[in-house]
Amino acid sequence: MERLRIRGGARGLQGTLAVPGDKSISHRAIILGALAEGLTEISGCSKSEDCQRTFEAVRSLGVEIEGWEEESLRIYGKGLRGLREAVDVLDCGNSGTTIRLLAGVLAGQPFLSVLTGDASLRRRPMDRIILPLRQMGAEIRGRAQDTLPPLAVHGGTLRGITYRSPIASAQVKSAILMAGLFAEGQTTIIEPVASRDHTERMLAACGQQVERGGGEIRMVPSGTLQGSSISVPGDFSSAAFLLVAGLILPDSDLTLDGVGVNPSRTGLLEVLQAMGGSVEVLSLDESLGEPRASLRVRSSRLKGVSIGGDLIPRLIDEIPVLAVAAACAAGKTVIRDAAELRVKESDRLRTIAVELSRMGVRTEELQDGLIIHGGHDLHGACCESHGDHRLAMAITVAGLRADGETTILDTGCISTSFPGFVDTLQHRLPNCLERMA
Ligand code: S3P
Repeated sequence: MERLRIRGGARGLQGTLAVPGDKSISHRAIILGALAEGLTEISGCSKSEDCQRTFEAVRSLGVEIEGWEEESLRIYGKGLRGLREAVDVLDCGNSGTTIRLLAGVLAGQPFLSVLTGDASLRRRPMDRIILPLRQMGAEIRGRAQDTLPPLAVHGGTLRGITYRSPIASAQVKSAILMAGLFAEGQTTIIEPVASRDHTERMLAACGQQVERGGGEIRMVPSGTLQGSSISVPGDFSSAAFLLVAGLILPDSDLTLDGVGVNPSRTGLLEVLQAMGGSVEVLSLDESLGEPRASLRVRSSRLKGVSIGGDLIPRLIDEIPVLAVAAACAAGKTVIRDAAELRVKESDRLRTIAVELSRMGVRTEELQDGLIIHGGHDLHGACCESHGDHRLAMAITVAGLRADGETTILDTGCISTSFPGFVDTLQHRLPNCLERMA
């Protein structure tokens, strides 16, 4: 089991670099490319283990797709009616996006599919997609009274529905929109709070009209999607670890190029700025409806903040590393309305609190959030990743700032989203990180 040894007291994170392609956008590009007419070329695709699961699942459904080892992927789309039954179970690994979005697609296919994943994914709630997909007419079953994977999906003729989602979840919204591509009539989704909108933007780029307004997303399927060339922006959620490292390590001045800055993803930027962090957004441009920018971050003195409400879905994946920034900030940080963190790759409210406590940070776990009492020294410790990639990376950043040495157990999971994370830091901060078998 891979471990990481981190020498604390690091300083001087400097230079310019690009982060890997956005994971959320890459999943959607692969899936919609498979369903489109003709060739889709994807440059800058995330080479994360999560996206590899989507790549392999789509291939198992009879789609010709190549170039995983290369700069760009090529997908020879089958059109909306061209998928075929897989000969085996589709293994979605650790990826909630793979299982939930594919379940939406498979709900529209006239054959049987079985979807499963690793131990973490098999603990994550699936009733949130099973219920709406059933309302649309799919036969779909899951373990534990239809709440957990493995899932068995037998699709067929679907009808559009109006679905008021009880949770702000882009995976739920996207599963329904994927199924809506195969449905009779209009599909409408009403979200309690807006979640990331990459699916809506990419459907529009493939020629499928999606109307939005008043908290609703409405789609009448046009019957075809057009293949295109997709250039994936850098992943803001990967950039987040480097942004926080740049803020909390002394003498840092780092520029991250080509980072996706879709406003439904960049809540962390606003919060770090409100904490007193120097993060500048430079040279904004846009490709296929997705904005991107260079971000320059410099070491800063931070202060605590209180966050909650509509902001939370816009930084949901960044809360582990935000908690590290909060531990280094003067005063108290309060995070509320974040109960969704309990059903991520780990129960992140618990695991963040436990692991930061090992480093001497005083934390209070709330039912829907966390209180972090910041401004005290962090101490190197022996920590665990809980198999959660974002927790492993957040604790790595904390370990670089701490005094003494930190060891993190079970860090292979970092490849779930950011396979080059350790190498990137090793290159900029020589002698600070060591991988151990
Ligand atoms: C994602 C949506 C979010 C996020 C996840 C990726 C997506 O999950 O936490 O990492 O790509 O749609 P929820 O939809 O469960 O909030």
